[in-house]
Amino acid sequence: MGRTDCVIQPLMTDQITLRRPDDWHLHLRDGAMLAAVLPETTRHFARAIIMPNLVPPVLTGADAAAYKARIMAVMPARADFTPLMTLYLTEETDADDVAAAHASGLISAMKLYPAGATTNSASGVADFDKVRGVLERMAEIGLPLCVHGEVTDADIDIFDRESVFIDRVLDPIRRKTPDLRVVMEHITTSDAVDYVKAANNNLAATITTHHLIINRNDILVGGIKPHYYCLPVAKRESHRLALRSAATSADARFFLGTDSAPHTDPNKLSACGCAGCFTAPNTMPILAHVFEDETALERLEGFTSLHGPAFYGLPVNEATLTLTKGTPAPLPEKLITAEGEVTVFDPGFDLLWQVAP
Ligand code: DOR
Ligand code: ZN
Repeated sequence: MGRTDCVIQPLMTDQITLRRPDDWHLHLRDGAMLAAVLPETTRHFARAIIMPNLVPPVLTGADAAAYKARIMAVMPARADFTPLMTLYLTEETDADDVAAAHASGLISAMKLYPAGATTNSASGVADFDKVRGVLERMAEIGLPLCVHGEVTDADIDIFDRESVFIDRVLDPIRRKTPDLRVVMEHITTSDAVDYVKAANNNLAATITTHHLIINRNDILVGGIKPHYYCLPVAKRESHRLALRSAATSADARFFLGTDSAPHTDPNKLSACGCAGCFTAPNTMPILAHVFEDETALERLEGFTSLHGPAFYGLPVNEATLTLTKGTPAPLPEKLITAEGEVTVFDPGFDLLWQVAP
């Protein structure tokens, strides 16, 4: 074929294929809710770090083994999905039990909830000195700590709780235990972005889908929007922009943890509504939209599929996921479960990207 025969390809990208993504922070719940929400994750994701804040919490290796068995019992027939289990760190956690659960490959991380910080965190840690022994053992065996990074002191404004946590709790822990590998989860502030960037490779952060989309005005202006309420609560616009910039920067210390957290509508739409956005069904189309907006579509795979495995020392997935861009695809607004309806996160724009079947 002569040079004049060549076909000029349009510059617009309307298809992208990625290694199959993983979700490094996910709430699957239990019972009927677990059975209803699990397929929403296994449809697109290969692995997920499973949060242990059940009632009662997943405290021991035996609890994690039993919870994993309950997840596997309702696994959709053709799913190729691995739940990565975690234990809920308390002041009573037994370091030997943790080490055994890690050595057997059962758990991938410990989860630190400051007591009272969020949903089902009552058994969390109030005195961080009381978990020093476990943290030191984790540093020794290379087991990562996933952190809900908010202080709970009544005198600290809710919008400042993440940055105060970094100064008062996280930084002292990291200084005393420099070999501990830490994931600061669902970061919501430029302070957290800066803190992670300034640290070494023992610190990483997950970013949720919804914190890339909403700021605090979206929750409060023009009437309260309970479906946008989550913890840590979304902050002002400058923080959202810092998160977008970190997520799309190709810096391997930032990766996806959706924090998809289903609650039934009656539990969200109450005088004391629960925190959580349910993003499992539409996370990948939303992220394609965000990364395209930031002219960073080629970096989406790093955020969803490469950086997380690198931090956790796991192989990347061999299977792929393809997204195509076309006409807006309506997604179901609600997931019907035996416990009640769960509203799917509404990004407030048409989703032109869809996951190819
Ligand atoms: O919004 C949230 N929901 N944040 C959390 O930390 C917990 C989660 C849940 O379990 O509902
Ligand atoms: Zn969470």
